[in-house]
Amino acid sequence: MIDLRSDTVTRPTEAMLESMREATLGDDSRDGDPTVMRLEALAAERTGKEAAAFMPSGTMANLVALLTHASRGGEVLLEQGSHTLYAEFGGITAVAGLMYRGIPGARGAMNVNALREALRPATTRHQMGTALVYMETTHNRAGGAVLPLVHMEAVHALARENNIPVHTDGARLFNAAAALRVDARRVAQHTDSVCFCISKGLSAPVGSLLCGSRAFIERARAFRRMLGGNMRQAGPLAAAGIVALETMIERLAEDHRTARRLAEALHRIDASLCDPADAETNIVRVDVRKSGRHAMQWSADLKTKGVLVAPADPHALRFVTHRHVTPADVDAAVNAFAELWRHH
Ligand SMILES: Cc1ncc(COP(=O)(O)O)c(C=O)c1O
Repeated sequence: MIDLRSDTVTRPTEAMLESMREATLGDDSRDGDPTVMRLEALAAERTGKEAAAFMPSGTMANLVALLTHASRGGEVLLEQGSHTLYAEFGGITAVAGLMYRGIPGARGAMNVNALREALRPATTRHQMGTALVYMETTHNRAGGAVLPLVHMEAVHALARENNIPVHTDGARLFNAAAALRVDARRVAQHTDSVCFCISKGLSAPVGSLLCGSRAFIERARAFRRMLGGNMRQAGPLAAAGIVALETMIERLAEDHRTARRLAEALHRIDASLCDPADAETNIVRVDVRKSGRHAMQWSADLKTKGVLVAPADPHALRFVTHRHVTPADVDAAVNAFAELWRHH
């Protein structure tokens, strides 16, 4: 099977498995787990933030960020296709007790004028104040689109002028940095807090890091506990994360090249499927509308040909490249797709 459903399918490397076996352990919620502390220090350093907290998932990292930044009843402004609105089961309202307003955007970047108009510096007797501005890079539903640094800077400046904090869901932060050819710190400097996942293209089995100021992370640890996210002897997971940060970031550009190869080949089959210029990182969104068939049918048919892809919505498939997908796999997947496309 050629598995293009997600970069979360990546298996830990041999070096990760070895470091997991040898990890020094402690109780993360008592005296601390030394390996977790090392991972957190490394994550803070890599994002240029003062501190970081290890979280079981990206979903929890985002939820903890919402709880830590914003008080109940406030409003969160974020791009309308954000992962947290589509795929995090409403934690933003159900758990954090926040309202949200989806801001229209292009390629995952909020329209800054629309953001400015939606922003309310304070709660008044008539209007709920903005509690948080929230970005996502790379942007999942926008096909791995990278927020331009000037956009992030503008959003951050606008929020700051109004004393509103900014959180960024950087589940694939290092993919964004690789695509921009900058250090991840350059991306993270335009947000007060950022989270990233080690469980995706970086190939560690589990976990995400939430990074921000020391005071923010201290409070975040309390909310993590509230959500049941204390992990005790999490050293083995953190050990894999350390190897991920030390050895797996450099190779992400390879996944981007593979994705571009895929997008170009699909574009040659039919230009309506995707625009190769949109394949900025490791996600390719493929529009199958022209076939008149549901994305679920496409993924079921591709499966019979040994290719796994995820439907992104009724008309689109999501192909994600990662460490286990070679250029030859991409060519095989494209051939399978081309056969079905001709048939339908
Ligand atoms: C942009 C984005 N944010 C958050 C998450 C959630 O991460 P997790 O699956 O670790 O909860 C994902 C997962 O795919 C994602 O793509």
